[in-house]
Amino acid sequence: MGSPSSLFFVILVYSFFLVSSATSFPIQKKFTRCLQAKSQNAIPFATSFFTPDNSSFTTVLESTAQNLRYLLPSMPKPEFIFTPLDDSQVQAAIICAKKLKIHMRVRSGGHDYEGLSFVSLIEEPFMILDLAKLRAINVDIARNTAWIQAGATIGEVYYRISEKSQVHGFPAGLCTSLGIGGHITGGAYGSMMRKYGLGVDNVIDARIVDAHGNILDRAAMGEDLFWAIRGGGGGSFGIILWWQIKLVRVPPAVTVFTVTKTLEQNANKILYKWQQVAPNIDENLFMRVLIKVTNSSVAGKKTVSTSYNALYLGGANKLLQVMKKYFPELGLTKNDCLETSWIKSVLYIAGYPNNTPAEILLQGKPSSKAYFKAKSDFVRQVIPETALNSLWKVFMQEDGPLMIWNPYGGMMSKIPESATPFPHRNGTLYKIQYLTGWLDGDKNMEKHMNWIRRFYYTTKPYVSSFPREAYVNYRDLDLGMNQFNETSFLRSSLWGYKYFKDNFMRLVKVKSKVDPSNFFRHEQSIPPIKKKLLIFL
Ligand SMILES: Cc1cc2nc3c(=O)[nH]c(=O)nc-3n(C[C@H](O)[C@H](O)[C@H](O)COP(=O)(O)OP(=O)(O)OC[C@H]3O[C@@H](n4cnc5c(N)ncnc54)[C@H](O)[C@@H]3O)c2cc1C
Ligand SMILES: *[C@@H]1O[C@H](CO)[C@@H](O)[C@H](O)[C@H]1NC(C)=O
Ligand SMILES: *[C@@H]1O[C@H](CO)[C@@H](O)[C@H](O)[C@H]1NC(C)=O
Ligand SMILES: *[C@@H]1O[C@H](CO)[C@@H](O)[C@H](O)[C@H]1NC(C)=O
Ligand SMILES: *[C@@H]1O[C@H](CO)[C@@H](O)[C@H](O)[C@H]1NC(C)=O
Repeated sequence: MGSPSSLFFVILVYSFFLVSSATSFPIQKKFTRCLQAKSQNAIPFATSFFTPDNSSFTTVLESTAQNLRYLLPSMPKPEFIFTPLDDSQVQAAIICAKKLKIHMRVRSGGHDYEGLSFVSLIEEPFMILDLAKLRAINVDIARNTAWIQAGATIGEVYYRISEKSQVHGFPAGLCTSLGIGGHITGGAYGSMMRKYGLGVDNVIDARIVDAHGNILDRAAMGEDLFWAIRGGGGGSFGIILWWQIKLVRVPPAVTVFTVTKTLEQNANKILYKWQQVAPNIDENLFMRVLIKVTNSSVAGKKTVSTSYNALYLGGANKLLQVMKKYFPELGLTKNDCLETSWIKSVLYIAGYPNNTPAEILLQGKPSSKAYFKAKSDFVRQVIPETALNSLWKVFMQEDGPLMIWNPYGGMMSKIPESATPFPHRNGTLYKIQYLTGWLDGDKNMEKHMNWIRRFYYTTKPYVSSFPREAYVNYRDLDLGMNQFNETSFLRSSLWGYKYFKDNFMRLVKVKSKVDPSNFFRHEQSIPPIKKKLLIFL
């Protein structure tokens, strides 16, 4: 040792080591280094950064994921999950993902029907930015507003409002574990939509991080981008950090009921009448129909059951008068009605057993999960009574099918189609959601998927056409998807017009301006188009 040649050898080996470790340096390490450099304060990586070799990785990945279909072993997995603790860490994550060219998915409540917030089918490697730890809610009753952070659930928001006032509420989702971040980006409907419109119709400001890593509020982002984020779908324009919402008035006592009729109990006739009544009745009344297959009273036979599940913003006596006048066919009685507070009605409609304490909403996580596939339609003309029987034939071919018919009208008809990207407004009688769920993994998955596609084909003559409209928050990849790391305008327009009608073009225009390099992209993100083509829009 000590001779010039052996020194040379040491340097050679050493530099070889440096070069090879630089090139094989895992992306996770590079990312954490970048985050540390770009972040103002120290990041506690042990509790906010999860790689597949960490024992908490699977728990964190699965935590809020609602559709088990996207947790199957065959599904692509992220390189790592980062759960930021403040707004500046979200900024840093965007800057670093961009610099290191790692594809990013953002998750708030994890309820995406096609798992797009935690699985990328089109591009690897990818990471997840999970906002689960950003869930502050600041309710200001005096000003009738609240600032809410993207990772909070809608149930937590309802609870925090009711904690401060019994006569305030917010018109958004029925399912209480939805994440504010993803939910409001697509519209957000619930049992007060006929009175107050959607969640997006009641948003007054927002704070987002754009593709450059800048934090923008409404004034800074401008009205075009503020329009686009209120219904243009999640994951296309930026990351919502906060929404500022406008609270709405609710009466101290509201009424809820559920009345079920099977085919043997005249279900078809009543459902036919419902289609004409529910979209036009008193806008304080939201009366949806849950349609299932159940055992018939005749042993060994199956039947279709239709459950009318409703919220009335008022007392039971007033409700009974309204029902007697406009919908006597249902035969609603005082015994069917439960008068309660608005927050208790939230629990009732979400399906919690009676007397469940409202504090359950603070758990902020889904109460059940399943493998499922869903689709949606909007109905503009009453489906004839005779046609219903032909639908039931195909409906009853599935093991556990579910349809939810959700009435429109009221405030929904008063808001112009172009006011927000959500276009399914005046002229819509009701929305149909088709669902099939199962628990045995991918064993019979093809069968279930085929059934729902067949049923969707069966209902085609009765629903909206040109385009056959769909709800972006009920994301459906059957409608088409972007290809590997590239979004083509033509391909996107297949589902773009279904989700947004003519608003799709305006969304493309906004996207082209605010994120021309398409940093925020996924299977159904809004595509940017080249500057020189923009003049045609
Ligand atoms: C059981 C169940 C019940 C439902 N009930 C209703 C209902 O009553 N009313 C209704 O309107 N909808 C309902 N939905 C649909 C729901 O609104 C959407 O699935 C919504 O996207 C969920 O938001 P999330 O934050 O939980 O989902 P996530 O899976 O976290 O996100 C959904 C999409 O938004 C993107 N995203 C997430 N966070 C952000 C963010 N902070 N900024 C920008 N983009 C983001 C994601 O990347 C993804 O593309 C229901 C869904 C389920 C599974
Ligand atoms: C891995 O997870 C455990 C908790 O399960 C945590 O204590 C540990 O710090 C994590 N390690 C890293 C490197 O993040
Ligand atoms: C319906 O009937 C079948 C047998 O015919 C039985 O196995 C099943 O449990 C019943 N389901 C319900 C919900 O009662
Ligand atoms: C809704 O559309 C109908 C015709 O379909 C029209 O008569 C009515 O004025 C419209 N309502 C509003 C509020 O635009
Ligand atoms: C898409 O992927 C291809 C092949 O990996 C690559 O050459 C191309 O640069 C990528 N395009 C974008 C926009 O990232």
